[in-house]
Amino acid sequence: SSVAPEKSKSRPGEKKGFVEEMRFVAMKLHTRDQSKEGEKEADVQPVGQWKPSIPGYIKFLVDSKKVYDTMETIVEKASHPSYEYFRNTGLERSARLAKDLEWFASQGHEIPEAGPDGITYANLLTELSESDVPAFICHFYNVYFAHSAGGRFIGKQVAQQILDGRELEFYKWDGELSELLGAVKVNLNKVAEEWTREQKDHCLKETENSFKYSGKILRLIVS
Ligand code: HEM
Repeated sequence: SSVAPEKSKSRPGEKKGFVEEMRFVAMKLHTRDQSKEGEKEADVQPVGQWKPSIPGYIKFLVDSKKVYDTMETIVEKASHPSYEYFRNTGLERSARLAKDLEWFASQGHEIPEAGPDGITYANLLTELSESDVPAFICHFYNVYFAHSAGGRFIGKQVAQQILDGRELEFYKWDGELSELLGAVKVNLNKVAEEWTREQKDHCLKETENSFKYSGKILRLIVS
């Protein structure tokens, strides 16, 4: 009998559902200094040594808002029925980022327009949401789940260094975050159940792009 190794091989995390597969691929793309599950070489500038500035951090928040505005418009519009599951998840960040930026403005800081990193990523998301559902879902998972994990850790660190420990709205959720994430996981698994193995693999492969585009926005913090 013939074997097709690539096709028959099971994927790490597969038995627990597709979110676990996405998580496994994402964790490996972290650097060792970011997470103990990371497999990439440490960054030239590990996150523990970041020297954030307020203007840099504001740029990061502005470009993040561009991305979350876009994500939240896409699921609201739901050009593909799968996206309807991801409306009103409680993970939405756009309105909270708007409040944070208002606060910075009230402190006398200049709030710039979105920069090229945010705009480029937002345009990619809009395009993928129409042309490539599995790729878009990969970005959706990574954008919201990364923020709930490493993003919060970074936020805490930045707040201690330059904001007198002030906790921004960006890092607050109504209700229990683990429950909100859990409900979204159920729906991500449900949506992916309808995909072929090829579509699933295509989605997993998009994780690298997610790191690339989000990574650029993250680095605005130290710009
Ligand atoms: C999870 C750190 C950047 C996507 C985690 C975890 C840590 C971490 C410590 C594990 C949390 C846990 O298991 O409870 C960091 C740091 C980053 C960074 C320090 C940058 C300096 C990114 C980026 C992405 C990403 C750029 C993708 C856009 C994820 C995902 C998870 C994760 C999807 C899994 C969340 C979950 O299990 O619910 N990160 N990360 N991370 N990170 Fe990152």
